[in-house]
Parts: sequence; C-alpha cells; structure tokens
Amino acid sequence: MRSKIVAGNWKMNKNLEETEKLLAELSAKLPNTEAEVMVAPTFVNLSRSVQVLESSTIQVMAQNMHFEESGAFTGEISADMLLNIGVETVILGHSERRAYFGETDELLAKKVAKALEKGLRVMFCFGEELDERKAGNHFKVVETQLKNALFSLDNSSWSSIVLAYEPVWAIGTGETASPEQAQEMHAFIRKTIAEAYSNSIADEVSILYGGSVKPNNAQEIFSKTDVDGGLIGGASLVADDFLAIVNAI
Ligand code: PGA
Repeated sequence: MRSKIVAGNWKMNKNLEETEKLLAELSAKLPNTEAEVMVAPTFVNLSRSVQVLESSTIQVMAQNMHFEESGAFTGEISADMLLNIGVETVILGHSERRAYFGETDELLAKKVAKALEKGLRVMFCFGEELDERKAGNHFKVVETQLKNALFSLDNSSWSSIVLAYEPVWAIGTGETASPEQAQEMHAFIRKTIAEAYSNSIADEVSILYGGSVKPNNAQEIFSKTDVDGGLIGGASLVADDFLAIVNAI
C-alpha cells in the first residue's frame, strides 16, 4: 500500500537556533500517525537537523541537489554529501527552482537520475501555472513535465519516487486548488503513469498535493482518494499548524 506523507518545505527560512527549536517542538508533540512525516530545512542546517531528530521518526529532506558527482560547481551540493550526513530524501523540481533558478525538465531528469543512482528517495514537484490552467492546458502541462523528467526511468525506480503536484497559482498565495480540482489532477496523474508503466506502479506511488495547505483545509484535501498527503510550505514553519496538518491525515 502506498505511503501517506506529510512533508514540510521550509524554503529559505529558519536560522540554526530557530531550526533546533522548531524540530524540538515537532518531535515532542508529534502525534501517533500512519503518515511519514518529513521536513526540509535549509542546507546549512541539515546536518544538525539529522542529529536533533536522531530518536524521532521525523525524516529530514534536502530542498535540492546538483546532478554531478563532485567538482568545480561553486555553491552546489552533491547527492553523496546529503547521504553522508544522513539525509535520504531530496525535493527536486520545486516551482521556485524552476521559476527563479531556471530549472528545466531536462535538467531535472539529470538530477532525478543521479539521486536515484545514489539511492536517494526523490520527492518530485511539478504543476501548472495560472495562465496554463486558465487556458485549459493544465493536464497537458503536467503530463509533459512528468514525461520529460521521469518517464525514462525503469520500473524499479518508481519505488523511490514520491510525487508532489503543486499548482503554481496555489503556492504561497493563500489560494488552494479545491479538493475536487486536486482529486481530478491526481487521478489524471495516476492514469498517465498507469498508461506509461503499469497499474501497480501507478497504484503504489504516493501523490502529495501542495499549495496553501493549512490546518483548516487539509482534512478535506487529504480525504480525496488519490491524494496521499501534502507538501506544506508556509504552514510548516509553525509547529502547531504543521502538526494539525499531520493530524488531518
Ligand atoms: P505553501 O507552499 O504551502 O506556502 O503554498 C507549498 C510549497 O511550496 O511546497
């Protein structure tokens, strides 16, 4: 059965002290849950986060990585560096990386391939922009993103992939896709994977929704058949809000 997952993407927020404080609060108050709970602090605080969460079930993710092994790539972080400090999951393809740092599907395909080769689990983000939805192109856009970055993977790689559908117009805007819009897209994503691979691969992959998930809307969104949890931005920075969302699974 596919995993339920609630993951917090902290983006460029929280210094070291704030990170330690939030992690301590999260691990102290974490409810009993069937969901995997994950957080993605900034790179500089990842190592400390792994230490702080050593006896917790909360997992630590990175927000990005480079596709090369090592070498002259100033400012970049490799898969091996993440694994070496105990980070086992990496977020790739977040819309902010695509929009502000020029990440393309082709570049992301290389990052995904390297992460999987190294044994990292990948949380792959994708989703349409507002004008694409308004023009009725959202299904096509999502299909193309998946195809370009993921559909040359072999069958066995899919057990290390988590998908996060994040419509760009709903990220940090306070606007959420309705639970019906989320379900409609998640079902489409599953169907697209079933056609490209198989029903069992499509059934097993966790598909998270992201975009202004808050304590007051999480339960309704998570109740949808094809929504297996959420990738949470703003609300993951406040312990009680994030834990309320964990509780909504
Ligand atoms: P948000 O961010 O919850 O603040 O909209 C979601 C995300 O970027 O993953």
